[in-house]
Amino acid sequence: MREITEQERLEALSNAIAIIKRNLPDYTYSCQDTNTVDGIYRKIENIEWTTGFWPGELWLGYIASGDEVLRHAAGIFVESFRERIEKHIAVDHHDMGFLYNPSCVAAWQLTGNAHAREAALLATDNLISRFQEKGEFLQAWGAMGADDNYRYIIDCLLNLPLLYWASDETGNPIYREIAIKHTRTCVANSFRSDYSCFHTFFMDKETGKPVRGETCQGYKADSSWARGQAWAIYGLALAYKHTGEKSYLDLFEHVSEYFMNKLPQDMIPYWDLIFTSGDEPRDSSSASIVACGFLEASELYDKLGEYDKALKYRKLAKTLMKAIYDSCMVRKDESGINGLVKHGTYSKKSPYNTCTPAGVDECVSWGDYYWMEALIRLGGSWKSWW
Ligand code: GLY
Repeated sequence: MREITEQERLEALSNAIAIIKRNLPDYTYSCQDTNTVDGIYRKIENIEWTTGFWPGELWLGYIASGDEVLRHAAGIFVESFRERIEKHIAVDHHDMGFLYNPSCVAAWQLTGNAHAREAALLATDNLISRFQEKGEFLQAWGAMGADDNYRYIIDCLLNLPLLYWASDETGNPIYREIAIKHTRTCVANSFRSDYSCFHTFFMDKETGKPVRGETCQGYKADSSWARGQAWAIYGLALAYKHTGEKSYLDLFEHVSEYFMNKLPQDMIPYWDLIFTSGDEPRDSSSASIVACGFLEASELYDKLGEYDKALKYRKLAKTLMKAIYDSCMVRKDESGINGLVKHGTYSKKSPYNTCTPAGVDECVSWGDYYWMEALIRLGGSWKSWW
C-alpha cells in the first residue's frame, strides 16, 4: 500500500480547514451532533459525549493556519463547557476526556484561558467520582453501582489523559493514581489471548473480581468492535506515555498487529473486525484513531532509541492515512455533505448487541477530529493535549 505524501497531507489539511470555515456560521453558538444524517450534522446543545471534537478541530485548524477566526471560534466554546460541568448537564458518564481535552485543555494550553483550566479540573473531579474501589475501575455509564452497569469500557483509555493532566496541573497525585489503577484493571481483563479486545467488561460488585466481557456497539461479545480495538491502540500508547510502563507498549504492538491483520485490501476497517470482506459498513474513524496512535507510538519509540519501530509505525500511519485520503476524505467542492471524512459508523445494530442504531456510513464527529489530528501530528512538533 502507498503512503500519504507531504503534498497530499497539506492538501488534505487545507481542504479540511476550508470545510470547517464554511461550517462556522452553523457551529459557533451551537454544537455539532455525533454524526451526520444524510451527510449533514445537525446543530445541537452541548449535551453529547462528542461535542469536544468540533472545538478540537477548530484548535487544530488554528494551529495549522494561524487563522485568528478559528482561534476566536474555538475560544467561544469554553464558556459552554464551563457551564455544562458547573451545572452538571449530561455529565453522568465517564467521557470527560473526550469532552474536555480537545476543548478546554487545548484552550488552556494554547491561550492560557483560566476558565478553560477551571472547567477541565471540574470535569476531572466528575470523572474520578465514577471510580469504583471494588474492582478498581471508572464506571462508564449509568447510575453508580447499578447491577447492569458495573463495568468499564475500552474507550475509557482515552479519558485517562485528563487525569494525568490534572495531577500535573494541581500537584495532587490522586488523579494519576486512579488512572493507573483503571489502566491495570483494563489491561488485566479486556484483552483476549489473540489480542483482540472486549468492548465492555463487567466486574463483580461484591468481590471486585472480573466477571465477563460484553459488547454494546460491536457485532457480538466475542468479536472485536473496530473502534474498540482502535481506542485500545491509541489508549495503550498514551498509557505508556504517561506511566513509562513498558509492558503497555508491548501490548500496544500485539493489539495493533491484530487490527492491521483484519483490514480489507483498501485498508478501511469494517465496523467490526469480524468482517473482512463483503458489504458491511466501514468505520473510517477507527483508521484515523489508529493513525494517531501509531504516530504517538512512533514518537515514543524515537525517544526510546528504537528507531526501526519508530519508522515502522510512522509508515503504517501514513498508509492508513493514504487509504482515508483516497476512499473517504470529503473534497471541499463536494455538495450535500458537511463533514470531513465519509464512511464512519457510530452504532450499528446486530442480532447480538445492545446499541441504539445511529450514524451508519456517515461522517462522525470524532472521525473528522482524529483525521485532522493525524494530519497535524504527521507534520511534526504538535504539543498533544492528550
Ligand atoms: N466512545 C463511544 C464510541 O466510540 O462510539
